[in-house]
Amino acid sequence: PAQEFSNILLDEVENGIYRLTINRPKTLNALNADTLKEMDAAIEILEADPSARVLLITGAGEKSFVAGADIEHMSHLTPIEGKAFAEQGMRIFRRLETLRIPVVALVNGYALGGGCELAMSCDFILAAENAKFGQPEVNLGITPGFGGSQRLTRLVGRAMAMELLVTGRTMSAEEAMRRGLVNHVYPQAELADEGMKLAAMIAGKSSSAIQLTKQLVQRGQDLDLDNACVMESDLFGLSFSTEDRQEGMSAFLENRKAKFS
Ligand code: HXC
Repeated sequence: PAQEFSNILLDEVENGIYRLTINRPKTLNALNADTLKEMDAAIEILEADPSARVLLITGAGEKSFVAGADIEHMSHLTPIEGKAFAEQGMRIFRRLETLRIPVVALVNGYALGGGCELAMSCDFILAAENAKFGQPEVNLGITPGFGGSQRLTRLVGRAMAMELLVTGRTMSAEEAMRRGLVNHVYPQAELADEGMKLAAMIAGKSSSAIQLTKQLVQRGQDLDLDNACVMESDLFGLSFSTEDRQEGMSAFLENRKAKFS
């Protein structure tokens, strides 16, 4: 069912393939508290839909993914309110990051500050050639607040993260890919199609195996190797209890394509 939102769009593009569009093009899709609230409600819908397979996140228009948290909104906040705003975004981005299905960012332009933080909370990123990534908070006299200083460091390493955070400079899509932040770069006009192709490929595979795999990667990265490997053998065992395992292995042995339910 279509949901009424003012700052975002949520649509099921094809069976199980959802797309969330940040839709405030006049501000280059800047995130204010209302937009975050609507994102939270959208995630709630996805969490409640067992047929959901993959989520694509993008920005409205051709110029920007998300140009950051809304600076106009933040300019009125007290320190206590600023902290609450950071906590709101932090909680919602974490909820997105730990959503049971894969979440892919289609970065179609500026991904700055909170926009870069949103993209980094997705499982991975496809970028348009015109995409720009960065954490320019220092230029406003503030720090990142939606997890940027932590996720960027984990993704590109401490030295490069420090350089980006203290200079506030932006990276091209090509540089972001070279640094391991972005998986693929496509011409702007092809980004949406490439996103759909990828989503369709994911949606056609075993959703139980994909969900367990996401848990392994998400939970494992903060564990020591011994415990992470115990978790892997446990979930490997669990995957043997699924119908998808039955179908996947039978299909291989019968020389046919698996048809997952
Ligand atoms: C509010 C924004 C905005 C933002 C752009 N706009 N970014 N409004 N918050 N983050 C608005 C502009 O005010 C302008 O409104 C319209 O969008 C178009 O932007 P322009 O600046 O005219 O476009 P352009 O010259 O092409 O420059 C694009 C840009 C620049 C380089 C992306 O807009 C920019 O530097 N934006 C701010 C980027 C930033 O600092 N992001 C980090 C924010 S801090 P009008 O009304 O004039 O048309 C952050 C912290 C996260 O994200 C953690 C919080 C807890």
